[in-house]
Amino acid sequence: MTRRRFLRSAAWAGGAALLAAHTGCRSLTGAGSARGGSMMGFRAPPLPRIRVGIIGIGARGTGFVRRLAAIPDVDITALCDVREARAVREAKALTDAGKPAPALYTGTETAWRGLCERPDVDVVYIITPWLWHTPMALHAMQCGKHAAVEVPAAMTVADCWRLVRTAEATRRHCMLLENCCYGFNELLALNLSRKGVLGDLIHGEAGYLHYTGTSYLEEDPTDEKGGQWRQRWYKEHTGNAYPTHGLGPVCQWMGINRGDRMDALTSMSSASLTRNRAVAAKYGPESPQAKDAYKMGDINSSLIRTRRGRTILVQFDTTNPRPYSRINLVQGSKGIFADYPLRIALVPDVHAWMDDTKLEALKAEHVHPLWDKNGEAARRMGGHGGMDFLMDLRFCHCLRHGLPLDIDVYDTALWSSVVELSERSVLNGGSAVVVPDFTCGGWQTAEPLGIVTM
Ligand SMILES: NC(=O)c1ccc[n+]([C@@H]2O[C@H](COP(=O)([O-])OP(=O)(O)OC[C@H]3O[C@@H](n4cnc5c(N)ncnc54)[C@H](O)[C@@H]3O)[C@@H](O)[C@H]2O)c1
Repeated sequence: MTRRRFLRSAAWAGGAALLAAHTGCRSLTGAGSARGGSMMGFRAPPLPRIRVGIIGIGARGTGFVRRLAAIPDVDITALCDVREARAVREAKALTDAGKPAPALYTGTETAWRGLCERPDVDVVYIITPWLWHTPMALHAMQCGKHAAVEVPAAMTVADCWRLVRTAEATRRHCMLLENCCYGFNELLALNLSRKGVLGDLIHGEAGYLHYTGTSYLEEDPTDEKGGQWRQRWYKEHTGNAYPTHGLGPVCQWMGINRGDRMDALTSMSSASLTRNRAVAAKYGPESPQAKDAYKMGDINSSLIRTRRGRTILVQFDTTNPRPYSRINLVQGSKGIFADYPLRIALVPDVHAWMDDTKLEALKAEHVHPLWDKNGEAARRMGGHGGMDFLMDLRFCHCLRHGLPLDIDVYDTALWSSVVELSERSVLNGGSAVVVPDFTCGGWQTAEPLGIVTM
């Protein structure tokens, strides 16, 4: 090798190492090749019966117990909650329904480790407060279990990388339980996108705009068992604490991580006027709570640019009085899809939304196969209008048949990473931050999620 060639290759290697360190990829020679192999399109051995352990039996976890118990070939073998009464209540609901009694793990903040270590658990559902999600998912995978994690799966970029590396090393799934990807309108938009009805997609808008009033202040302030966890986060952090509900579906429509990737993100937060006023109104203007300012702005807006030149707006607001919305908007070269309420305009009639008759006909023509086949059962079982049950059904179907998941560990990490990335940008006056490529280049060859069927 000539000196010049050696220097050139050394410079490339140095640059590659720098880039690798910056992005968290240990190898640039192939997605995850130095980390146990890529999990893109990963198929786990089929599970004819799926043995489930559930950690966190609060407002959300209770629904999981009831819904999963209704799915054939699913056995709930263990339940865990730091509050014993909740686990006991749901164990009774299972035995009352004629199911075997699950093992219980309660009383301490680390009892969940025992649940992960049980040989009769294949999948660990993690439905706890946010800061527990990553440690629980890591331990579950290290114990050889698939992890199904509530949103967001991680609150820091470093934890997102930990989830990716551990899934790759253990060859276990780590799926974000992003139920909104299974909503009727979200799957209609996926169908329209894949069929080319909307043309080439260029811009998306997503959000979690949910006026929760002062409900988060109702949590018992003397609760020492992990209560007030949302409130604590809002006091200590800014940015978007809950980005994945609207963002997940938009990423699936656009093929983010599968043919395109997020490149840069810029974010700004408003002042915290409404939230601080609500606290003062509840506890009194002179109360210690009213003096305890919240860092979280009342509304946060992030703008993401993708490698293929698309843009995505993501908003977060749980404070301002307004109707609920996840926005769900996608603009394509042949038309636009927008939700809350559902509106569609297609070329050549793009100067007005299509009327109700045309909209209903379009919905009937392009209803997504998952809703077409399972809509009635989903509506009956409920969970946000049925999308929760559809997510549960589809996840179990993939596990039963050893299929790749619709939401893999790279999606889980990327969508969750917006929590820290948005905060970093807000704290830097809205400067753009680089979005890590959790696939380490795998996005370039991956096929977009197809029209999912079951
Ligand atoms: N996807 C959705 O539509 C949706 C809706 C609501 C909540 N969530 C998510 O679900 C999760 C739980 O939310 P929630 O509203 O049910 O909260 P919650 O506070 O009602 O329930 C959390 C439960 O976790 C338990 N817990 C806390 N620490 C624990 C530990 N160390 N070990 C075992 N159990 C522990 C608590 O005792 C409680 O029962 C959150 O991540 C939230 O973001 C998602």
